[in-house]
Amino acid sequence: MQETATLTLGDKVIQLPVIIGSEGERAVDIRSLRKKTGLITMDPGLANTGICKSQITFMDGEKGILRYRGIPVEELAENSTFVETAYLLVNGELPSEEQLKEFSLLLTEQSLIHEDLKAFYGKFPSRSHPMGILSSMVNALRSFYKDLKIDNEEAINITLARLMSKVRTMAVMSYKISRGHTVAYPKPEYCYCSNFFYMLYHSPVRKREINPLFVKALNVFWILHADHEQNCSTSAVRLVGSGRVNLYAAISAGIAALWGPLHGGANQAVIEMLIKIREKGGKIKPFIEKAKNKKDPFRLMGFGHRVYKTYDPRAKIIKKVCHELLASLKTNDPLLDIALELEEIVSKDPYFMDHHLYPNVDFYSGIVLRALGVPTNMFTVMFAIGRMPGWVAQWKEDADDPKWKLYRPRQIYIGKNKRSYLPMDKR
Ligand code: CMC
Repeated sequence: MQETATLTLGDKVIQLPVIIGSEGERAVDIRSLRKKTGLITMDPGLANTGICKSQITFMDGEKGILRYRGIPVEELAENSTFVETAYLLVNGELPSEEQLKEFSLLLTEQSLIHEDLKAFYGKFPSRSHPMGILSSMVNALRSFYKDLKIDNEEAINITLARLMSKVRTMAVMSYKISRGHTVAYPKPEYCYCSNFFYMLYHSPVRKREINPLFVKALNVFWILHADHEQNCSTSAVRLVGSGRVNLYAAISAGIAALWGPLHGGANQAVIEMLIKIREKGGKIKPFIEKAKNKKDPFRLMGFGHRVYKTYDPRAKIIKKVCHELLASLKTNDPLLDIALELEEIVSKDPYFMDHHLYPNVDFYSGIVLRALGVPTNMFTVMFAIGRMPGWVAQWKEDADDPKWKLYRPRQIYIGKNKRSYLPMDKR
């Protein structure tokens, strides 16, 4: 029997259907509310609003659970690769050996950048942030690749491979060009992650081996970032996509949304904060006090999450990767010591405990990226490369829906009531 919620408004009583998800999550379906009552709901920040039903990712913020297509992210981080996880997210199932081989081949085939597109790089001012460049370049893809079909599995895999592969090339290219270095194209014999390092490290005068530990760490990093249900950038992709723009424009909007320091930009902001703490003699307490001061807009970067009210499961995994990587490289990053001490202090501080503020994925990921030799201003681009399969999968879920609706929220107007235009001499 359909469960309903009862809403009483004065002497009017209405029934609203309750939608129940496969993990028991429940939502009151308010679609008929305005028609029945003239009322809308108010939820700034959309903290309590479901914008879609989705089969892609399940999160439980109270229990710290994250699963892609039902598979725990811990199992994927342990056993899968980023490429396999990307296939899973978009196609719904893990690939067979043959499907994985074909998809990997597509990734190699799609990795080249049109020479005209490459020329755009020279036009950006030298200090441009790579996220701004990436967002513009992805938007420009539409002008070069017009045949954007998604009506069958093969077509969607080509589109996904094109985005994943070109974005990796474009990301490395933006860095190499900013340094005035030559750009190497990926090698077909390397896997997706190895090719990232091959391109990043490539130098005509110095050969650098690709460390398999780096490849494993990067696979885990990208798996952890591959999707996160209706976060700010993914909702931006869905919202912009709902106007029926092309996929590249919708993803470009997602990249722009991800750039912000409250979202993906936090990984860069965390490292900048840890560096500042080190420059202040490693004194952590003043930063904690500043974060607690309501008159100060400063926040501890890498702490807190809209959904997780416990330890972010991704943060647990990336923290472990961070320790393992530094231990096997036999190096120490002083920022890790500061981060560990900061976490220790925060975990006992009543303010952070009462607000349920724990480290999120961005808190330790920057230290991993530093160890991998990724420059700090590329950190959020690394997040964007990882999020590509999630964005494509989420956009496709909307696009496949025969009832795909234009996203168009409402508001309560609190401005001036009707008044007349005043001619200049009467103002
Ligand atoms: N430092 C200090 N106080 C904080 C922090 C923080 N990092 N995060 C939240 N709070 C406080 C906030 O001041 C507020 O306090 P009060 O209720 O006393 O006024 C309360 O916690 C709730 O804050 P909110 O902004 O309403 O909560 P939210 O759910 O909108 O915030 C957040 C989520 C991620 C924007 C926020 O925790 C934050 O700004 N964190 C720092 C930036 C960061 O690390 N972002 C990466 C998020 S994970 C990567 C991703 O998936 O995007």
